[in-house]
Amino acid sequence: MDNHLEVIVLAAGQGTRMKSPIPKVIHQVVGEPMVCVMMEQIDSSAREALKIKIRFNVVVGHGKDAVEAEIKKAAQNSRIQSPVIFTHQKEQLGTAHAVRLALGNASKSAKIFAVFNGDLPLFTKEDFIYFWKEHVSSKSLASLASASLEDAGQYGRVIRKGKNFVGTVEYKDATPAQKKIKEYNGGVYLFERKLLEEALNKTSNKNASGEFYLPDVFNFAFKKKKKILACHYQNEQALAGVNNLVELAAAENVLLKKIADHWMAEGVRMIRPETSVIGLRVTLSKGCVIGSGSTLLGKTKLAENVSVGPGCELIDMEVGSGTVIKSGSVLHQSKVGENCSIGPMAHLRPGNTISNKVKIGNFVELKESNIGAETSISHLSYLGDADVGKKVNIGCGFVTCNYDGVVRDGKRKHRSVIGDNVFIGSDSQVVAPIKIADGSFIASGSTVTESVPEKDSLVVARVRQTTKPGYAKKYRS
Ligand code: UD1
Ligand code: CA
Repeated sequence: MDNHLEVIVLAAGQGTRMKSPIPKVIHQVVGEPMVCVMMEQIDSSAREALKIKIRFNVVVGHGKDAVEAEIKKAAQNSRIQSPVIFTHQKEQLGTAHAVRLALGNASKSAKIFAVFNGDLPLFTKEDFIYFWKEHVSSKSLASLASASLEDAGQYGRVIRKGKNFVGTVEYKDATPAQKKIKEYNGGVYLFERKLLEEALNKTSNKNASGEFYLPDVFNFAFKKKKKILACHYQNEQALAGVNNLVELAAAENVLLKKIADHWMAEGVRMIRPETSVIGLRVTLSKGCVIGSGSTLLGKTKLAENVSVGPGCELIDMEVGSGTVIKSGSVLHQSKVGENCSIGPMAHLRPGNTISNKVKIGNFVELKESNIGAETSISHLSYLGDADVGKKVNIGCGFVTCNYDGVVRDGKRKHRSVIGDNVFIGSDSQVVAPIKIADGSFIASGSTVTESVPEKDSLVVARVRQTTKPGYAKKYRS
């Protein structure tokens, strides 16, 4: 790659303060690893707004395989479109050490480097555009993004003399007076290559943490009288570094509120929005109503006037207009048509296609099934691997027996094919593989083991009733 901006992402640390076996940067916010959320924002701002070519150079170490796998998955799904390479930092000797290794792996033609801590899930496209423009227009050779807090906690501090930025100090090394500084280093940087290389060769680990500090580059550059910039953000949320699970939850809440506010502005009614989770890649339409305590994730897409909840979970769902999804329903990786009624307490496991005006009632579970228009499955049923026609009425407590624990014809599960206008009485089963012709009528309580090839057949597959007058009294005595 020629003439691109190399974006180094620091993702090798363990994240000790998370007290979790999962590497810090792949902890999820709103259902996505936080490092990917940040990389997507940088990626799209570079490609779409700034029109600069970038390449990601991700420094991995702790939990390397898991971190790489998450980033590769995001690239495969085109959530990250710029090229990505990985640099392995075997021992985590500090942020400057990590960047030094990444430089060794960077393409020779890259003249400018951006560096991001991997724990900034709230950093947005707009935040990057602002930083890039300030860096370029100030002709700075090394810039960092800063913000201010009344108490800047454990962040590294930005030191100024008057208005001039003169260097940084890490919290652990700061004097009591420096700890009172409100302006802090946000962990986002832009560097000119030559200066960065030179400075990194000079950084030492003789400090309170025994680590090589990347911010020391600024102290070096200032001594060498190079132009440096601390680009101050009014909105400190942009630079919220997540170091523990409390900060993770706080960052997630900020993101969730942003997403909810966006959809409400687009005409989606959210009831108690602070109780619901709407994912980053979910698409809603006007007239939708999201009841409290609902979770919509993945590529879920709702057409106009869909109502969901309260208390539903939808993952990778596509739902047609006017459909009502009642409380407690769990719907995954399926397509539902228009004007359907689903739930309460319905369960769509992956792989269903449901046509228009279908009714799926309470305690109905579906898996890899296709349901024709205007079919009704109202109560307490299981349909797995079924193809059900149009205007079928399925009574209460119907089961497709798709699995008998034996592999037959190379398959473990078998399909049940039910034609149009079939009526299935309550408490019936069909044992797959099986086909029921159009218009057939299955009497309630039947266990149907043989296919029904002729249309409009009546099928009764149950024991004939015996009635013995007076026997009840005899039995009781
Ligand atoms: C860092 C900055 C601090 C700043 C803060 C902003 C340093 C020395 N300090 O502190 O000035 O205020 O971020 O949030 O940089 N990492 C590696 N390899 C390592 C060490 C860290 O890849 O050897 C990665 C981590 O995975 C993490 C990032 O670098 O994503 C930052 O490390 P972290 O330990 O979170 O630094 P802070 O103490 O927050
Ligand atoms: Ca941090």
